[in-house]
Amino acid sequence: SPSVAVKVIPGDGIGPELVQSALEVMQSACSLQGVELHTTEEPAGAGLYRETGEALSPGALDRLRAADGILKGPVGLPEVRKTDGTEAGLLGGLLRIGLDTFANVRPIQLRRGVEAATRFEPGSIDYVIVRENTEGLYLSRGAGVRNHYAASDQLLITRAGTERIVRYAFDYASQRKGAPRDGVSRVTCVDKSNVLRSFAFFREVFDEIATEYPDIESDHIYADAAAHALVTQPDRFDVLVMENFLGDILSDLGAGTVGGLGMCPSGNIGHRSAYFEPIHGSAPQIAGKDLANPLSQILSGAQLLRHAGQLAAASSIENAVDRALTAGSITLLPTGSPARGTAAATRAVVERLHE
Ligand code: NAD
Ligand code: IPM
Ligand code: MN
Repeated sequence: SPSVAVKVIPGDGIGPELVQSALEVMQSACSLQGVELHTTEEPAGAGLYRETGEALSPGALDRLRAADGILKGPVGLPEVRKTDGTEAGLLGGLLRIGLDTFANVRPIQLRRGVEAATRFEPGSIDYVIVRENTEGLYLSRGAGVRNHYAASDQLLITRAGTERIVRYAFDYASQRKGAPRDGVSRVTCVDKSNVLRSFAFFREVFDEIATEYPDIESDHIYADAAAHALVTQPDRFDVLVMENFLGDILSDLGAGTVGGLGMCPSGNIGHRSAYFEPIHGSAPQIAGKDLANPLSQILSGAQLLRHAGQLAAASSIENAVDRALTAGSITLLPTGSPARGTAAATRAVVERLHE
């Protein structure tokens, strides 16, 4: 029977409880489809840094590269810091650059059954943020300069990096089912090309690549106006492509419209490797309290299985999530926490898999 070998990074804070939920759901979904799921753990993050002085063990990147899929929980603890004041337990740079996962794919979808946690109409929000994941402002991680009077970081946009992320966005738009209401696929370039040279360059490269895709509409919006439009007319969007830092901010904004961060999975996709994680962090204030919404991690597991070619298992998880939400077996509080807790929400999804 087919088998999938998954490397698992449990992470910090709510990470381990969410990953446990997702693995429970993935195991059930796979066994129902006759797929063998093998998992092995790779400890990483702030907990490991506290013990060893490194956020990732020696040889970890090679072990991760050898897996069929990687499921990552959120990492980082605000109190575990380096001397420059930044956090020590984060893996963003290490994994995204180490595995060259250049496309951070963040679907923002308003699912039915989350009404208490959103002000938006069911079905009105369904777009995908394609966030450049290996350059932009965050290439400056650990490389900024400071003295007593000032500090600076640099934002780098390259032609090669922009071409590959924009092509990824157009290819993604051409394959995506959930096109906007008018039925036409569209890629929107989000930038601040009115102010910064680096973003004017990003937009210019976007326009060049757009001509390779005559069947897909393309347009532009400044990032500040995008923040407004994502709240006032989210149904205008299909696929959005943008620089790393902008994508970080605007995806959390999108999450705020669809029931909270706990509804939002993501994929970090490269040509050779890919890893899947919620878009949110380790939420240390709610860790161990049965308050975290596990759907972000469960849906990341579904995204992983689809990427690994297990389409039936992936869809069965997404359908089980939707049935659990619409039947009221999972209800979200206005805070974004599941009313009956993390474990009960997980059980509700597993039960629906068996229907
Ligand atoms: P956060 O995303 O952890 O939390 C923001 C808010 O959302 C908090 O109120 C939290 O309780 C809530 N929240 C998050 N996930 C939730 C869920 N599944 N269910 C219910 N509520 C949820 O952001 P933060 O507090 O700014 O950061 C905490 C730590 O996470 C920091 O160390 C940060 O650097 C790290 N971080 C890691 C990642 C990652 O690993 N990919 C991403 C973002 C932040
Ligand atoms: C994310 C996070 C990370 C990032 C941080 C915590 C390193 O905010 O994945 O959205 O953006 O790089
Ligand atoms: Mn973020």
